[in-house]
Amino acid sequence: MWQPARRLSSCDQTEMMTKLSGQVLGPLDTPTYGKCLMKKAIALCVFVFFVLPLFTGLILCCGAEAPAFRPDQVWLDASGQPIQAHGGGILQYGGTYFWFGENKAGKTYNHRVDVIGVSCYSSRDLYHWNNEGVVLPAVKNDPASDLAPSKVLERPKVVYDRHTKQFVMWMHVDTADYKYARAGVAVSNKPTGPYEYLGSFRPDNSMSRDLTVFQDDDGKAYLIFASEDNRTMHITRLSDNYLRPTNETARVFIDQSREAPAMFKHEGKYFLITSGCTGWAPNAAQYAVATNIMGPWRIKGNLTTGPGSETTFGAQSTFVLRVAGKPGAFIFLADCWNPDDLGDSRYVWLPIGIHGEDLKIEWRDQWDLSVFK
Ligand code: DGJ
Repeated sequence: MWQPARRLSSCDQTEMMTKLSGQVLGPLDTPTYGKCLMKKAIALCVFVFFVLPLFTGLILCCGAEAPAFRPDQVWLDASGQPIQAHGGGILQYGGTYFWFGENKAGKTYNHRVDVIGVSCYSSRDLYHWNNEGVVLPAVKNDPASDLAPSKVLERPKVVYDRHTKQFVMWMHVDTADYKYARAGVAVSNKPTGPYEYLGSFRPDNSMSRDLTVFQDDDGKAYLIFASEDNRTMHITRLSDNYLRPTNETARVFIDQSREAPAMFKHEGKYFLITSGCTGWAPNAAQYAVATNIMGPWRIKGNLTTGPGSETTFGAQSTFVLRVAGKPGAFIFLADCWNPDDLGDSRYVWLPIGIHGEDLKIEWRDQWDLSVFK
């Protein structure tokens, strides 16, 4: 059968000539043959080191799932283990996101888990998370400690104080009956800890249960906590080093029974998302807006819409994350609690649509950061 003639390269020609003459190349032919060998070696190197990896990479990329947020599914860290960062919050520092949350990997009994401590995960893209370990562990040898396994440690949040160069963690500490109702504080000079526990407060002499910390543009930080037996929310400014509550306090949502606060600021307006108080069971989220963090706050209603919005899609607010490098991009972080197996509580992260003072969140099975223009 006819086949198109292949143009012989100078290498092929030299090789052929050598074979045809049946002789070993003499000294005069050595440079030509050496060049040919060199060319072949270069071609082989290009193939092995560039072409092959490129194709392998392409095949792997096409086969792997594209990075995305899949609310209410099991989220694995980089080592393949389920992420344990419940009731959490995220700090962005030096181009890395640090996600802090409750480690609830223990056995659930009476709808509680013994305190293990606060976990930290790091990520540069919000999709892939490295486990940085338990950065504030339970204190096992002192039953009286706020951090004893028999106690409650919930909703840790970390802010960075650029003056003291310290990472400050606030958290809800409590006894198993939730009567202790205090805010605990810990510090570290690295985001990934270890954190040193400094003690706990009843800010402005009031009960403090579900809490969050909000750091304003002017560097002031505020503790926002469910107080007065969860009937009324308090907003208290923290001292300049963020380590103590001050006496500057506002009582908001008086007798409204709100908890699970998550605050953010956009275009000069403060937004505060909360849930109702129904234990581990989900209920409808609510948000409020203010131009002054100390109030007055105007209640705007439920920000979730569509099927499942009456229970915030089965989840409860914990934090709002500002996405770095994308102005106006905020992610709602919530927990889908599983009271029978708290360690298997799932994460619900959804993008927040903002139109002036109106917020809107819709359910999505899967999404990624490209939703933010
Ligand atoms: C609701 C709170 O938001 C959670 O953090 C937790 O304290 C549960 N209540 C306990 O029932």
